[in-house]
Amino acid sequence: MSANPDQLTEAPEAIHSEAFVEVDYDEAIPNNVSLSSDKQLLRALESWQPNYIDWWKEMGPDGFQNAEVYLRTAVGVDPGGWAKFGHVKMPDYRWGILLAPKVEGRTIPCGRHKGEPAWQEVPGEYRSLLRRLIVVQGDTEPASVEQQRFLGKTAPSLYDMRNLFQVNVEEGRHLWAMVYLLVKYFGRDGREEAQALLERRSADQNNPRILGAFNERTPDWLSFFMFTYFTDRDGKMQLAALAESGFDPLSRSCRFMLTEEAHHLFVGETGVGRTIEATCKAMNAAGIKDPGDTEAIRKLGVFDLPLLQRKANFHMSVTRDLFGSEISSNAAEAFSAGLKGRFNEAQLKDDHQLQDATYPVLRVVDGKFVTEGVPALRSINSRLLDDYIADCQSGIDRWNKVIEKAGINFRFTQPHKAFNRRIGEFAGQRIDPAGRILTEAQWNDGKAQWLPGEADLQFIASMMTPCLERGQYASWIAPPRVGINNQPGDFEYVKID
Ligand SMILES: [Fe+2]
Ligand SMILES: [Fe+2]
Repeated sequence: MSANPDQLTEAPEAIHSEAFVEVDYDEAIPNNVSLSSDKQLLRALESWQPNYIDWWKEMGPDGFQNAEVYLRTAVGVDPGGWAKFGHVKMPDYRWGILLAPKVEGRTIPCGRHKGEPAWQEVPGEYRSLLRRLIVVQGDTEPASVEQQRFLGKTAPSLYDMRNLFQVNVEEGRHLWAMVYLLVKYFGRDGREEAQALLERRSADQNNPRILGAFNERTPDWLSFFMFTYFTDRDGKMQLAALAESGFDPLSRSCRFMLTEEAHHLFVGETGVGRTIEATCKAMNAAGIKDPGDTEAIRKLGVFDLPLLQRKANFHMSVTRDLFGSEISSNAAEAFSAGLKGRFNEAQLKDDHQLQDATYPVLRVVDGKFVTEGVPALRSINSRLLDDYIADCQSGIDRWNKVIEKAGINFRFTQPHKAFNRRIGEFAGQRIDPAGRILTEAQWNDGKAQWLPGEADLQFIASMMTPCLERGQYASWIAPPRVGINNQPGDFEYVKID
């Protein structure tokens, strides 16, 4: 099947295959890993599968389990021809196990084992560290489905609803990808971790998801689009780093997951972009020049641009915390062990071992910013965060083009790296988006300009009325330029029963 417009805006270069690998859909668990030849593994996964379906029905999209959704299903892992589209009820989606093709002769790309053949089995000395990396990645996948489970009810169109559900089923498949690794390679404790992944719940007091941002609420569509642009992009960075793993099955899993992740980023970028487009159009039609004329703009049924900036500031800062402490001995060990590389490890021009190298890390010392040369091994997280911030920019530039074209005087910017952080070097500091170090009183004075306040959130909530007529869109969001799989504008993306 030819390339479709919804998946390729960010197709990672890492994906390449020597041969088309068919996925076996005759099996109860579709896969391209010859599952039927490993009876013990098959049995273990078949006993996990009903628990997964129970989890999906309990915690997946609320109220739409019987709706027929126009979903894409991977039928191969070949970059040009891996997707098939059709209406499916979500609980019947064919979640499966898909690995990118094996690269013959692949070697460990970084750390003290650099150049040795990539591991096909778990290296014993790194077993628990490797398991932890897989569990943490795996935990984010069902968490985001849980966070987004009520959004279907307020969808701004059937097109957007379909995109939400596509993201949700793929996050479910990403859980499968990590569970496959746990169950196949980690024996009994892997099976226990696989079960625990179905038991934690986003924002649950007693048994929350592992990472902070995955316990935040995603209560509205603006949050969803910001999440898929900024927070799924953390997913992209983590997957890209894990795709460099010397543990080859993890690398191959992540390489295929990255192709799916590209669509999630697309949903976020175009979702925010279409929201901006609707605002600019409404402002121009009403002859409003000042982007700060909040009251008049909100009366038009669109979001004012400064509100979108505050919302973006919140999501960016919370997501930056997901990278963990900038200086981290755990991250150093994961890299040195060869379990997790850097972003684009293979393209980097250094010795990939970093014994003597340093990396510039921004810190606050005695109330001032200083850039310190920190041993590069201990700065792996800091570097990945810097790569993430750079990766966020291209979509923001495209949003600014929309505003510029409309002749409105406003630009979206990324807040300073240290703004509103709770984890790492800047936790406990008060720093504004421009990078000024503030007193508590100054922070309290300025906060309402930088982060969404109660009135903002109430306004956002008030706009979340569903728009479910074919081809219709809520006032605050412009229609997409192209339909999914080139479907026409009035296509029934979701058949609600
Ligand atoms: Fe994911
Ligand atoms: Fe994602």
